Amino acid sequence: MAADPSLVASLRELPAAASGRDPVLPGWLRMAVDQEDGDYATYFGAELYERHGGGPKDAVIAALVADLVFLEAQVLCSDAGDGRQLTRTKAAVQALAGLRDLAPDHGPRGGPIDAVDLSALLSGNLDDAKFGELAGSAAAVVSAAVPAATRHVVDITLLPTTPMHDEQMFLRIIQVFEILYAHLAQDLTRATALLDQGDIDATCAVLAKADGRLRATRTLFRVLTTMPSEAFSVIRDNTDGRSAIQSRSHRRVELLSAPPPATTAPPSREPAPAEAAGPTLQEAFLRREPLLSGPEAHRLTAALRALDGSWTTAKRTHWGITLKIIGSVPGTGGTSGADYLEAKSQVPLFPFLHSATA
Ligand code: HEM
Repeated sequence: MAADPSLVASLRELPAAASGRDPVLPGWLRMAVDQEDGDYATYFGAELYERHGGGPKDAVIAALVADLVFLEAQVLCSDAGDGRQLTRTKAAVQALAGLRDLAPDHGPRGGPIDAVDLSALLSGNLDDAKFGELAGSAAAVVSAAVPAATRHVVDITLLPTTPMHDEQMFLRIIQVFEILYAHLAQDLTRATALLDQGDIDATCAVLAKADGRLRATRTLFRVLTTMPSEAFSVIRDNTDGRSAIQSRSHRRVELLSAPPPATTAPPSREPAPAEAAGPTLQEAFLRREPLLSGPEAHRLTAALRALDGSWTTAKRTHWGITLKIIGSVPGTGGTSGADYLEAKSQVPLFPFLHSATA
């Protein structure tokens, strides 16, 4: 936002031919020159992550979490003695320690991500500078194990609207969530297909992995709660119109789970569902249910219930954090803010599980 307007104007006029030479440049330019017409997609780099993620999604998550730790550790080294920064850096290191749960398919078992031992770091009594230094080194090990193309996409998608490092943390967290939502959408599509084929074991396995990822987001929320209200208020002022309510992958998760309730009127800036997401998992279950044995029905219902519970828990946590950070002011997406999120946290992924006969 603080870039010289003439520089922004030149970038806007960059000939298409020039930007065509580098596959990631057009997507980066849309992020870099979105001062006037930016939205959530240009804010976090949706196009670059969708088209050029640079490798498997779990590698992207690993690179993002490693960068989050790296950024926080750097600040801790330069601001030693700031208790709030130590709390945040520790929370980020906890997220790195839980990376296997957030990104279970990243790298081989026993590879660099499992070899980084963070227990000494988290249980020891180190001074801030030493903690920052060791946290930064651990992040570097994880990052080095990620394909260079993935690191490149992650490196170029940190374009905050303010110079505040709190916003860098915020951006990295929403990027991890975005990749997780995309994962979840994929898992729901896969589970629906497997269920239609009658493969109950494989369906339950896909659902269990998705549930594990969702539950692991508690470490990300812990980092997010360290956001001071005053800092977020500045970020809010600069990100009007860039609300995560526009998240397409979040919407897809909802649309692939169950048909939307007929009565839900979209809040002001929520985009109408752009595409039919496809058959839903709830419908697939109800179709298959008459053919299931008792134990099969029981296992599937338990797996769906677990995912449903993790989803609403994450939504309730998001609501709680929002209430703490912005109170009851409206959101940047034009909704009532925390009240809207509270209502959304009560909408299950699979409503049939909550009906009287389930
Ligand atoms: C400081 C932390 C945060 C605050 C204060 C906050 C606040 C809000 C508010 C007020 C809304 C309502 C829509 C609006 O009017 O803007 C919202 C929606 C949403 N936020 Fe956040 N948010 C935070 C962090 C995050 C993070 C890290 C993510 C991860 C991607 C996220 C994802 C979402 C999603 C997906 C919605 C739409 C929810 C729905 O329609 O059910 N938020 N947020």
